[in-house]
Amino acid sequence: MSNGTLIVGGSQAGLQLAVSLRQLGDTSPIILVGEETHPPYQRPPLSKEFLAGQAELDSLAFRAPAFYADSGIDLVCGERVSELGLSPSGPPGSGVAATANGRELPFDRLALTVGAGPRRLALPGADLDGICYLRDHNDAADLRARLATASKVVVVGGGFIGLEVASEARALGRSVTVVEAAERLMARAVGPVVSEFYRQAHLRRGIDVRLSSGVSGFDGERGRVTGVELSDSTHLPTDLVLVGVGVLPRTELAEQLGLVCDQGIVVDAHARTSDPSVVAAGDCTVQPHPMTGQGRVRLESVQNAVAQARVAAATLLGRLDDVKSVPWFWSYQGDLKLQIAGLAAGYDDYVVRGEPDDERFSVLYYRQNRLLAIDAVNRPADYMAVRKALGQGVTIAPDRAGDAAIPLKSLLAASTTAAPAVQRADA
Ligand code: NAI
Repeated sequence: MSNGTLIVGGSQAGLQLAVSLRQLGDTSPIILVGEETHPPYQRPPLSKEFLAGQAELDSLAFRAPAFYADSGIDLVCGERVSELGLSPSGPPGSGVAATANGRELPFDRLALTVGAGPRRLALPGADLDGICYLRDHNDAADLRARLATASKVVVVGGGFIGLEVASEARALGRSVTVVEAAERLMARAVGPVVSEFYRQAHLRRGIDVRLSSGVSGFDGERGRVTGVELSDSTHLPTDLVLVGVGVLPRTELAEQLGLVCDQGIVVDAHARTSDPSVVAAGDCTVQPHPMTGQGRVRLESVQNAVAQARVAAATLLGRLDDVKSVPWFWSYQGDLKLQIAGLAAGYDDYVVRGEPDDERFSVLYYRQNRLLAIDAVNRPADYMAVRKALGQGVTIAPDRAGDAAIPLKSLLAASTTAAPAVQRADA
């Protein structure tokens, strides 16, 4: 009898991989194993609607409970796969997994969708009660309960998580300080114009933003955090700290198998690891640039989890499709809706459309006149136009893109082809 596919990691990429296998006609067994006790759920609302009390775990579930049995997907929650071994004599990719609870799971095919975990600060006082991280539902539930009674909140890290939590905490009336080590906010994801806009916009909303500020430790009383010490000796009194300083991809299992890892599990455009019979997808991977095929990138996004999981499912079934996809991201910080399409890395020019002071503008990034990406703030039509342009492999002339009165989608029609068209994996 076939052992089918073992998918390790029960979140967005893992579930998508299982669903895609079924959609592609695979009828063999599928076991989807997740460490969390909850069936797969959406993570993005955890730092937004969930904190605001506008969403609960049940409403975040991807699928109704009956879906799994109906689809022949054996969902195993609350089990951590602790050991993986590939069979030296069996078919390529087959082997056995062991869970921390001692369960053995034989498989014919293996997919790793193990995600990433929050990077933790190793500083004096970092274990004090009241220093929180946010990655999963339990983290968010804990943070929400603490926000209800906190008065002074310090957020360490001015990235997506930090700024989304800072916005929600401020909306609840808390005093909020964001401490960011870099010279600007969200430097990993957006250009300097957008970073500076967010600094000012959050200041206008009453959030204290400290840039180029390192944390040297935490103070506490009776085991609870009472303050944050900055490297310049500033002391910030607080009763709640949220640390959002990036993630570390979970590579331990891949390393056990001897797979090549380099700040993530290294995969090719078909989601194959260095053992081509094993696939990996989602936040745990580093992959060639999804549009150009050049270099290596780690994409921490819903879009990538879904697109890469679809590719991985096809690969497991022996179909090596040449699929490229346009990366997109979003971060809703209160009423400031940031949408990003494409990857701006390597840009040599940019065009600002609209007025940052109006809190409605976008920035288009170019390299040698070729459109690379957009950061759009409260301008969804601009974002959609650029996402479409990138998907079709056309550019938008930079000398006209800055005229906010002209809809970008009309310029797209007049563009010249400048990059190979992208076959959509996100359709
Ligand atoms: P991030 O990489 O977006 O931001 C981390 C920030 O912390 C950076 O600005 C970095 O310079 C700063 N930092 C690093 N070390 C520091 C230190 N010692 N002191 C002060 N600042 C420091 O990662 P973040 O915000 O933790 O997000 C984690 C994950 O969640 C990412 O994968 C992110 O993409 C994902 N996420 C995605 C969202 C979205 O797509 N909308 C929303 C929320 C989270």
